Amino acid sequence: MRKLTFQAILASAALALLTSMAHAEIVIKFSHVVAENTPKGKGALLFKKLAEERLKGKVTVEVYPNSSLFGDGKEMEALLLGDVQLIAPSLSKFDRYTKQIQVFDLPFLFKDINAVHRFQNGPVGQSILGSLKKKNLTGLGYWDNGMKQLSANKPLRRPEDAKGMKFRIQSSDILEAQFKAVGAFPQKLAFAEVYQALETGVVDGAENPWSNIYSQKFFEVQKYISESNNGYLGYMLVTNTKFWDGLPADVRKTLEETLTEVTVQVNQWATEFSEGDRQKIKDSGKTEILTLTPEELAAWKTAMKSVYDQFTPSIGKDIVDAALAANK
Ligand code: LMR
Repeated sequence: MRKLTFQAILASAALALLTSMAHAEIVIKFSHVVAENTPKGKGALLFKKLAEERLKGKVTVEVYPNSSLFGDGKEMEALLLGDVQLIAPSLSKFDRYTKQIQVFDLPFLFKDINAVHRFQNGPVGQSILGSLKKKNLTGLGYWDNGMKQLSANKPLRRPEDAKGMKFRIQSSDILEAQFKAVGAFPQKLAFAEVYQALETGVVDGAENPWSNIYSQKFFEVQKYISESNNGYLGYMLVTNTKFWDGLPADVRKTLEETLTEVTVQVNQWATEFSEGDRQKIKDSGKTEILTLTPEELAAWKTAMKSVYDQFTPSIGKDIVDAALAANK
């Protein structure tokens, strides 16, 4: 009798545990490094809103913007450790994990955002999303920010103008090579440190898309911005494979559908932000936007061409060719 009672207690405790597990909300921490009034910042909040509406009581999404939970150096590690479940680093920040993604950093690779989308949505772009599987990372999609513009306290019209100057770069070997190719000194710095580095002269210049230049107020500490469109800055939404595959199938499906929908909206915002923030920067009168002539742009392109020879073997010629073909 005593034994039976003990078993009954055990059984009811197990049942209570199972019931509480079944009802436990899944918490998705989404960490990123930019402001909320950017395509990625707004995208994260829209994902939270829609996911929580559609999976009421099952899923909670906590968004941490502006490097408030983890900065650049730490967010990938945090994802692998299970401290966050969703991040969207720029494609430049994956180079320690896979060489294929580096293709996006090649200077002047895509003629416009439409070419970027053709490549991302094509077979090679999609296979790159899966290229991190071995590292327990699952790519869930690409989000745009925009094309990068060069900025400095002196006018940068031709590649020679950058000679001897220090530029902040994201942690990418290709971006490092790109600035070395024009005789400049690149310096890898976390995004959260850029404003101060520009303000105090730790670096002389940088390359950023319009929405980051505006939302981080970089234009207040850079006298000139050359409209160079010298590279693409976009993101890969990435999750921990074990976490994602362990989600109940119906929850995962809803989250994936929601992300697809949010991606369309983010990319539309990205276009709007690129135009709107450029205009706001212009209107501020705090910096001068330089329009480069086709000849000047061609000179930058030629000066940076050696980066292709240097990195195509490690990225894969088929991948570089597929990206170039997306321009046609
Ligand atoms: C940067 O470090 O410049 C960007 O990757 C920041 C971002 O997430 O847009």
